[in-house]
Amino acid sequence: MSLQIFLDRLDQLQSDAQNAFDGAAGIDALEDARVTFLGAKNGQFKDVQKMLGGIDSADKRTAGMRLNEVKKAINDAFETAQAQLDSGGDSQIEPGFDPSLPGHQPQLGHIHPITQTIDHLTEIMGRMGFEVAEGPEVEDPFHNFVALNIPEDHPARDPLDNFYLATAGKSADTGEGDALLRSQTSTVQIRVMQSRQPPIRIISLGRVYRPDAPDATHFPMFHQMEGLYVDTNVTMANLKTVLRVFANNYLGDDVEIRFRPSFFPFTEPSVEVDFLWNGSWIEFGGAGMIDPNVFAAVGYDPEKVSGFAFGLGVERLCMRRHGITDIRDLYSGDLRFLQQF
Ligand code: DAH
Repeated sequence: MSLQIFLDRLDQLQSDAQNAFDGAAGIDALEDARVTFLGAKNGQFKDVQKMLGGIDSADKRTAGMRLNEVKKAINDAFETAQAQLDSGGDSQIEPGFDPSLPGHQPQLGHIHPITQTIDHLTEIMGRMGFEVAEGPEVEDPFHNFVALNIPEDHPARDPLDNFYLATAGKSADTGEGDALLRSQTSTVQIRVMQSRQPPIRIISLGRVYRPDAPDATHFPMFHQMEGLYVDTNVTMANLKTVLRVFANNYLGDDVEIRFRPSFFPFTEPSVEVDFLWNGSWIEFGGAGMIDPNVFAAVGYDPEKVSGFAFGLGVERLCMRRHGITDIRDLYSGDLRFLQQF
């Protein structure tokens, strides 16, 4: 075999191998190309190497040197292509990428069970014509106590039963008293009545704060649904109907409802509200007819208007409906718990 043919053959081999390695779209294709050109048994380089035996002995040295150069060049080309693919390459297609497989599902967050409950309660009460009102969580004693007929010496105002914000200064509204985290959503009754005239039909759902040690049924922060209905000739029958319709909608058909005599400074008469749930009476909150002193505090004429109010525990409602037995589960942030809702 002539030296020239041998050298041409080597050139051709080098450029074929280079093209094959450069064009390999993934590690599998590159490996196929490697076997084709560098395979120990039937690789094309091996074939050409075998031809060296047929070269005249005078040309063997030249042919051998060129053979080694080409071998190195092909090996280098392979390594460069491999490194390119390992680092992501400039190819659009990832190694091992299978476009027919389903994609990665992005993890979407979802709505906390208490927020779901608030939405549900809002929807039920909305159907009875109650619109949503809001109030601040940092309150002043006027809205949290005074206007609600809770006098200075009442135990509900005890510093040990409230989160007073000693450094927060005086109330923006009245300029007096230390601010506190509201202990009840009844504050919103006052704010709404101060800013509008009857008829009024509102609910207010939000956080309240009390320094209770956490256990299965207590948490220092929880939620209440406050309701307020003010018009002329409002009676306790109206109150009972609204709460019964609400309970039937939220807890299921035919929930029985019971009023027990009680006392709240801002209602007269006052009742505890129980629902019959799975065979036992459970207290869900308090209610009553608005006390004339409360109407007077917001500038309404108690002789002309009447109304009812109620306050229900949102966690209690949510827990009964979903069979949750420990309030702390709602606020532990444990996704295994939260994802069930
Ligand atoms: N604010 C009361 C509490 O936190 C609940 C309550 C009772 C609200 C009677 C009312 C009501 O509006 O009329 O214990």
